[in-house]
Amino acid sequence: MVAMATEHVIDVHHWNDTLFSFRTTRDPGFRFDSGHFVMMGLEVDGRPLLRAYSIASASYEEHLEFFSIKVPNGPLTSRLQHLQPGDPVIVSRKPTGTLVLNDLKPGKHLYLLGTGTGLAPFLSLVRDPETYERFDRIVLAHGVRTVSDLAYADYLERELPQHEYLGELIREKLIYYPTVTREAFANRGRITDAIADGVMSRVTGLPPLNPDTDRVMLCGSPAMLDDLATLLDGRGFQASPRTREPGDYVIERAFVEK
Ligand code: A2P
Repeated sequence: MVAMATEHVIDVHHWNDTLFSFRTTRDPGFRFDSGHFVMMGLEVDGRPLLRAYSIASASYEEHLEFFSIKVPNGPLTSRLQHLQPGDPVIVSRKPTGTLVLNDLKPGKHLYLLGTGTGLAPFLSLVRDPETYERFDRIVLAHGVRTVSDLAYADYLERELPQHEYLGELIREKLIYYPTVTREAFANRGRITDAIADGVMSRVTGLPPLNPDTDRVMLCGSPAMLDDLATLLDGRGFQASPRTREPGDYVIERAFVEK
């Protein structure tokens, strides 16, 4: 059985009716790599009710941050969405996952492609100095249905580029590419289409995706992962195999609760 720790909620931010984020205390002995997930949840009827959640905070920060959907009848999220500062949450002591820099070969451009709560692991990665040491440009694409689903947009556009230590690197290297499918917005359409029809390349000013120079991390629904993996495979990208050899791209399912 994996060891668990009890942490406490520091603050909660509701983005809209379906998305929220919260921060918790962090045991100083708890270590993870940017991009990792943990089992996290609540004690319900004396038993832990846990789900896999990517850690959205950076590995050097004193707190932990999580980004979640709210499902009215979801066993965990129907409860989690009512969290208040001071409430306990359970966090497993064993972070893991495939969206880690060490599983990618060296490259020039890093594409972090996420839909919905698939943004979460990338929030950790874009706050990690190592990401900027390894790549010249980092494209963070977030695909959502509505403009209000663009959680962290203001943070990524305005706050992060002013970061005390990383601001300069971020201004130079990070390109945030939000895209919305079901409402009018500057970038309209699915990430898959934006790559296939060259729109993303035009907006970012970077050449079309190419395995010689580019590395990719994917986090989204199974359908999104399938479509993007097919697109990347078609361009000659190789997924990081199970043997944990570094590859051109890595994949992980974003958290959803039915
Ligand atoms: P769409 O509105 O066209 O379905 P969801 O909330 O269902 O996970 O969707 C989040 C975002 O991901 C939406 O913008 C959705 O677009 C998009 N999406 C859904 N399926 C795919 C896919 N197969 N490839 C790329 N994007 C997808």
